[in-house]
Amino acid sequence: MKPAVLVTKRIYPEAIEFLKSHAEVDYAESDDGMPADDLARRIQGKQGVVSQLTDKFSAEVLASLEGVRVISNVAVGFDNIDVPAATRLGILVTNTPDVLTDTTADFAFTLLLAAARRIVEAHRYVHSGEWTKWRIDLLVGQDVHHRTLGIFGMGRIGQAVARRARGFSMRVIYCDAQQAPAGVEKELALQRVGADDLLRESDFVSLHVPLLPETRHLIGARELAIMKATAILVNTSRGPVVDEAALAEALERRAIAGAGLDVFEREPQVEPRLLKLENVVVAPHIASASVDTRRKMSMMAAENAVAVLEGRRPANLLNGGAWRR
Ligand code: DGY
Repeated sequence: MKPAVLVTKRIYPEAIEFLKSHAEVDYAESDDGMPADDLARRIQGKQGVVSQLTDKFSAEVLASLEGVRVISNVAVGFDNIDVPAATRLGILVTNTPDVLTDTTADFAFTLLLAAARRIVEAHRYVHSGEWTKWRIDLLVGQDVHHRTLGIFGMGRIGQAVARRARGFSMRVIYCDAQQAPAGVEKELALQRVGADDLLRESDFVSLHVPLLPETRHLIGARELAIMKATAILVNTSRGPVVDEAALAEALERRAIAGAGLDVFEREPQVEPRLLKLENVVVAPHIASASVDTRRKMSMMAAENAVAVLEGRRPANLLNGGAWRR
């Protein structure tokens, strides 16, 4: 008998085809996601779940699952799953790293450039018919080249952003609990500094940390007060890494110059004060959203799930402690 898999939300069709060739698939082919009760009910009798970041697997939800061997998240982030609780219960958890690194770094840089060079304001200005003459200081912004970029989190995506910054002749400093490998520091001319030094010295601050208890509100009123008045904050990590109310306050007071935000504390809601500000560029959590990358993420999640269901160790296992042969 084939194992049974629940796919909680729409993913790319080739991943569904692949799953169907290895398992009985219960596919919730919708973008809505399932309320917790439906999720718990539909998981009954399944050995695998292909989930997305909007599906919450708390310790309580995990404890209620019977017979589930793997939760395969279609995302590199996994803050929607209580991984230590899954490990205690022997449930394997997988994610989709690497395939989205460059795409996400491209988008972080897109937000940085858009905020620095006021692209959204410029677009609106031309569309509204306000453009009647060339002016010496029309929509003047901040230079990016030769400026200092401060990166919180020098993992895969942080490094990919630093690599892009090299092309703009930027100085790159970073803050991370772990020192980047010496070869990477050398290749990208990185300098590791403390958090406050990074905030004080950077013209652009880009966030690439996972959401953990210790990174929640990593950027709050105190940190924003340390940043330069000309600085721009970019967040493509997770919304709760930034205290959104404090950010709105800092932007309103022009305590910092701008922000490029792809993620928010209460998605899909956005702090209304942020939406009133010209100096904020916002996007709906799409940093990894290129056609190729979203296809690859879907396939990778399907392959991770199938590997477990066939008794193989999945390529992107997050909790090796739960692995039993
Ligand atoms: C992730 O992968 O964690 C992103 O936030 C969604 O692609």
